[in-house]
Amino acid sequence: MKISDVKAFEVLDSRGFPTVEAVVWIGDRHVGSAIVPAGASKGSHEAFEMRDGGRRWMGRGVRKAVDNVNTVIRKALIGVEAEHVDDILLGLDDSGNKSKLGANAVLAVSLAAARAAANYKGVPLYRYIQGLTGAKPVIPTPMVNMISGGHHAAWNLDFQDLLIIPLKAENFSQALEDVGLVYHSLKKTLSERGYSTLLADEGGFSPRCRSHEEAFQLLLASIEEPGFKPGHDIGLALDVAATHLYSGGFYNIHLENLRLSPGEMVDYITQLCGRYPVVSVEDGCSEDDWDGWRVLTRRLGGRVQLLGDDLFTTDVKRIRKGVEEGVANSVLIKPNQVGTLRETLEALKYCSEVGYTPVVSARSGDTEDSFISDLAVGAGVAQIKIGSIARSERTSKYNRLLRIEDELSGAAKYLGGKALRLSGDLVG
Ligand code: PGA
Ligand code: ZN
Repeated sequence: MKISDVKAFEVLDSRGFPTVEAVVWIGDRHVGSAIVPAGASKGSHEAFEMRDGGRRWMGRGVRKAVDNVNTVIRKALIGVEAEHVDDILLGLDDSGNKSKLGANAVLAVSLAAARAAANYKGVPLYRYIQGLTGAKPVIPTPMVNMISGGHHAAWNLDFQDLLIIPLKAENFSQALEDVGLVYHSLKKTLSERGYSTLLADEGGFSPRCRSHEEAFQLLLASIEEPGFKPGHDIGLALDVAATHLYSGGFYNIHLENLRLSPGEMVDYITQLCGRYPVVSVEDGCSEDDWDGWRVLTRRLGGRVQLLGDDLFTTDVKRIRKGVEEGVANSVLIKPNQVGTLRETLEALKYCSEVGYTPVVSARSGDTEDSFISDLAVGAGVAQIKIGSIARSERTSKYNRLLRIEDELSGAAKYLGGKALRLSGDLVG
């Protein structure tokens, strides 16, 4: 299974900015390709995304990263066994944050090599990943964006995502239908009440609201309208993305003219969780506000999934620190925060050792690549966050999961709301 060639291109992501696509060949017949996504509300501890700077594409070109693939990486990989690609990549870029070659260059090759290897073995990608992890395959429960704010929607809300999680559906396709009923009911509700129905970066709606509670109310009405019971059939989830609200020791909620200390921020979130059926809160405190996170976890960790995104950046070292500090109980897993499939799988293995629930996630700038769908199934990750159910960079991943569910026809478990482990066995 020796690599015979490697090539990269500059292609576009869903926000109309350049990103890296890599193609890896094994022999002359087996090929795999992958395109990396790009975040907008990034954590400062993420692996380094290499951009060209200068005038071309407003500084956001990726020709340097593409060149790194076509020169240094290609030279080092030709003749190497596909299983060893990530080891070689990690040896070539030992900077600790992929700043030598760019995480966008490294990840594109890492994922393309896995696809090429799956093709060589004649198995679906999720099956190949399952071979690496030894996990039992699952079809993940989706956590789906309905209303966007923050960096993804011109700051119409301070919170970045209001999401829903179908809790009672018995399989993935039923879950998507439940989500769809709420999504279309929300569109109708917004339009009837005079709000915009334009879509934000992840395909969710972006109504201008006077408060966050107004957005919660719109969402609740849209869950009830098709006959669902909020909190029973459909849970609410939040991505506060609080790193991006934090400055000088305070959290700024501009919409409501609030400037909150970490303790007050935790009160604010706790009150929302008391008033609405919120089952998961992501980045409720800022990426380095460990004190805030500790208080948040003490207050809510026993009954709400507390998900670390900017906090952990898919980095085992940071997740370990979180466990030692007793913060959060769940980890967002984004392969491009760390830069290789191997490190992504290491983060997942660590999550399962310490009992933190992993949630595989797309980025706000994404592409038609559906790698994360196979990743979730093959690594046995029971939750996935892809954005909303509109826009093709999102549907490519939902549709991939629909096909996998059909292909596995019952051989993979679908845990529904149980994936969140809210029944008393939460850590933290
Ligand atoms: P990003 O947002 O891809 O812009 O970082 C996604 C998230 O915060 O979960
Ligand atoms: Zn997030």
